[in-house]
This record gives sequence, structure tokens and C-alpha cells, in this order.
Amino acid sequence: MEEDFTFAIIKPNAVRNKHTGPILARINEAGFNIAAMKMLSMSRLQAEAFYDVHRGKPFFDGLVEFMSSGPVVVMILKAENAVEEFRKLIGNTDPAKAEEGTIRRLFAASLQMNAIHGSDSPENARKEAGFFFSGFERFWS
Ligand code: CMP
Repeated sequence: MEEDFTFAIIKPNAVRNKHTGPILARINEAGFNIAAMKMLSMSRLQAEAFYDVHRGKPFFDGLVEFMSSGPVVVMILKAENAVEEFRKLIGNTDPAKAEEGTIRRLFAASLQMNAIHGSDSPENARKEAGFFFSGFERFWS
């Protein structure tokens, strides 16, 4: 991936509540190109591996349970300054603190079920995209 990109997940509560379409529309309207995307379900083991950095925290077990509770949509999103711009679009991790109009403010149910994930650094975007997408899937465009 030569260009600036971030990695995102539409979480199980948002997929379950039929918010995938409205969330994707907002992502496109904000100027991001969807470079790769797929819907999948994570096993507990896969969710534990993805969130390994949070292992041992009080919310870890609940987070793993939730993230493996149903399908998610994983994406690689391209834009200038993608990581920072996407975090502005989704808002604060806690929807109660997220600004009006942000994706989490609009679609999150709680701090845990906060509708969407966005990488917090270009380094993590690369790492997280690599967890879900092969080189073949990432380099088609
Ligand atoms: P995200 O930043 O996408 O990835 C880590 C997730 O852990 C975060 O979204 C929240 O869904 C969840 N999380 C973080 N802090 C807490 C917390 N204090 N209680 C419950 N869930 C949390």
C-alpha cells in the first residue's frame, strides 16, 4: 500500500441493526475510497488475537465476546491523512463523548458496542489490515 490508508471494522451491533449501508455512505461522502472490504465472523480465538493488546484489561472478555457475536465488515480505506481524518469521522471511543454527527454518536449503543473501529496510527493500520487481508486482497488497486 503506497498511499495513505486506515483500517476499519463495522462492529456486530451495527451490522445487526442494518447500519452497514448508512455507515458506508458516510465513509464515502467524507472522501474515503474503499480499497478492500469483506464481511466475516470472528471466532473467539481470532477476536482474542486481534485484541491481544487489550488482554488483561477488565473489558477484554466482554470485548472478545461481543466482537465474536456476529458478522463484522472489515475495510481498508484510502484518503489523505487517512488515520487522523477517519478518527475525526467516527468520534470518541465513548459515544457519550463523541461529537454530534460522528458515526459513533449516530450508531453506537455503548462504549463496548461503539459501532465502528478505526486504527489509531499508520503503524497499527498496517498491522491490523495485515491481520484480515492478504497481499493479494490489499494490492488490487
Ligand atoms: P476500539 O477502540 O475500536 O477497540 C478497542 C475497543 O475496546 C473499543 O473500541 C471499545 O469498544 C472497547 N473498550 C475500550 N474501553 C472500554 C471500556 N472501558 N469498557 C468497555 N469496552 C471498552
